[in-house]
Amino acid sequence: MKILVTGGLGFIGSHVVVELQNQGFEVIIIDNLSNSSEDVLVGIESITRKRPVFKNIDLRDKTSVLSFFKEYNDIDGVIHFAASKAVGESVENPLLYYENNLNTLVYLLQELQKKGNGSFIFSSSCTVYGQADDMPITESAPVKPAESPYGNTKQIGEEIIRDTCKVSKDIKAIALRYFNPIGAHESVKIGELPIGIPQNLIPYITQTAIGLREQLSVFGDDYPTHDGTCIRDYIHVVDLAKAHVVALKRLIENKNKSNYEVFNIGTGTGSSVLDVIKGFEKVSDQKLNYKIVSRREGDVISAFADTAKANTELGWTAKSTLEEALKSAWDWEQKIRS
Ligand code: UFG
Repeated sequence: MKILVTGGLGFIGSHVVVELQNQGFEVIIIDNLSNSSEDVLVGIESITRKRPVFKNIDLRDKTSVLSFFKEYNDIDGVIHFAASKAVGESVENPLLYYENNLNTLVYLLQELQKKGNGSFIFSSSCTVYGQADDMPITESAPVKPAESPYGNTKQIGEEIIRDTCKVSKDIKAIALRYFNPIGAHESVKIGELPIGIPQNLIPYITQTAIGLREQLSVFGDDYPTHDGTCIRDYIHVVDLAKAHVVALKRLIENKNKSNYEVFNIGTGTGSSVLDVIKGFEKVSDQKLNYKIVSRREGDVISAFADTAKANTELGWTAKSTLEEALKSAWDWEQKIRS
């Protein structure tokens, strides 16, 4: 089976390519290298002993998308990661985000429509829930007005797919709403490679511990949580990657209940920023230099997943603990700086 993975050289995409190849899928990657590198192919190949086909295509270029699908007219499924993901940047440059994240989605769905069928997995986010009223968050929790153009692209992206599936019954799609993906492959051959100053907690922690950053700022300790810091559901990227493969198989094997479905992909456990720091200090056996600063705009207090739907319907459960995920992130940071 031939699977197109857009953004397949990125953090989550590369881990998904590994899991797909390990399960015998033939993978074609499209990536424009805007936030990744061709070196990732080497990592994927050394883990799986197979080099996926790689096409350096910018999905905003409709002509290139058309000619790709002409050449590869036998694609069985698409897993779509290629998108911009920095919340702050999206506020500064909203049109870039609407173009990168939505035009590309439309072009891909148009190609599936032309083909008449296809399985499609979309990279969505728990950001669609905003500050949910109840924890853990179930898939039926209301979608709240987006805090940023980035978040809005995930909400609109889901709507675009849902509307397309309504009229194209032979297109089958699943939106996976990720909680906070962290960690790296156990082989230490692929992992997260943030460009510039990391915006996310875990790469900021590992870069501080390795000496690249002086100090971690903890954004606020006056939230109504057990220790005053925000709560998130941190999921090991390999667990997340495996969820994509089971979701894809569900569609290919026609086990889906409708042709558009949504699943939360998280561990079900909420951890505060200070819990994460403590966990990191334990697995790295060192103290982390951090200070409490004021709140970061746009942060929700708490977000962790109700995973019952993914557990029962996909038959998938996250396996790694927070400490295992943090250890893999630390191993990766040490490896890339050595
Ligand atoms: N945090 C710090 N210091 C930092 C970075 C983060 O204290 O230097 C805190 C944040 O305030 C937050 C927690 O760590 O409480 C997690 O922050 P991240 O930036 O790692 O993750 P977010 O939950 O803010 O964002 C993630 C994804 C987004 C997605 C969002 C949905 O990065 O793409 O989840 O909630 F939109």
